[in-house]
Amino acid sequence: MWRLLHDAKRGYWVDTFAGRILIQTREDKLPPALVEQLQRHGGNCFYWKPRTAAANSEPTWVAGDRQNEPFVARENGLDFEISFQSGYSSGIFLDQRVNRRQVIERVSAQAAGSGDSPSVLNLFAYTAAFSVAAASAGAITTTCDLSGRYLDWGWRNFQLNGLVPDDHHGCKGDAFQWLKTFARQGRQFDGVILDPPTFSRNKKASFRTDRDYAELAQAAARLVKPGGWLLCCANTHRYPLRDYQRDVEQGIRRAGHQGFRLRSSPMPPEYNGDDYLKSLWIDFSPTPSEEGRNS
Ligand SMILES: C[S@@+](CC[C@H](N)C(=O)[O-])C[C@H]1O[C@@H](n2cnc3c(N)ncnc32)[C@H](O)[C@@H]1O
Repeated sequence: MWRLLHDAKRGYWVDTFAGRILIQTREDKLPPALVEQLQRHGGNCFYWKPRTAAANSEPTWVAGDRQNEPFVARENGLDFEISFQSGYSSGIFLDQRVNRRQVIERVSAQAAGSGDSPSVLNLFAYTAAFSVAAASAGAITTTCDLSGRYLDWGWRNFQLNGLVPDDHHGCKGDAFQWLKTFARQGRQFDGVILDPPTFSRNKKASFRTDRDYAELAQAAARLVKPGGWLLCCANTHRYPLRDYQRDVEQGIRRAGHQGFRLRSSPMPPEYNGDDYLKSLWIDFSPTPSEEGRNS
């Protein structure tokens, strides 16, 4: 599965999931030529969701076979449950493919280096795709999301890959509260993944990526062991990389880390440079006192 067509200018986005095609359009109109063009390239099943539709509405069937049941699609050698009936998203955000691959590589290297199972915390986890990637490489994962339904979907993704949910931890509820709880408990992890929605609200407060990321990065950085890593993602055009990087660095310094290396990672090439997803990988030095270096 991957993004087949990304044309932000004309407002077409097309994903392929094991031969099933999902078209998104900016306008509430599906150009017939687009479907015909896609049919010529293969694919046996076509669904469509205009971005004008309510965020949680299901895609509608357009042509070919109907896909009324969840099905399985593969990425980086791993299987994930996909559904065209779930609204919001189909079960995976394909723009994170390269980051998931990097999680696999990092955890494999940590596991080989220490001979132990690295611990990875995945916050705002949705269907746990990052956790599955980390677990497949030998991590013991902790997966947090507000939604019990998405966590259950995540456990099915574990099982699809022969991973045993009981060997891992799940935390239902507000990520900001879990960050406080883990800090109080003195828990730390070899890797932490932060991929929040652009906007989130709980009973007491609201979060906006471009306003509050420094605070979030600070709370997450406190939970990373010396020598560990943090992946920070922000999914919005409205947050320039320079500002985002400045905020993340500020949060990390406030958390007391001086020695770290920060690197920005590009989106997968099929997104044609439409860099709405910003990803920063932060490697912390094994000795907390080392001076900060950025590249
Ligand atoms: C953009 S998705 C995250 C995608 C995910 N990181 C992935 O790799 O597929 C946002 C997720 O954050 C969850 N969420 C939103 N606000 C939250 C909060 N305050 N605490 C925990 N989870 C939250 C939503 O339920 C949703 O699953």
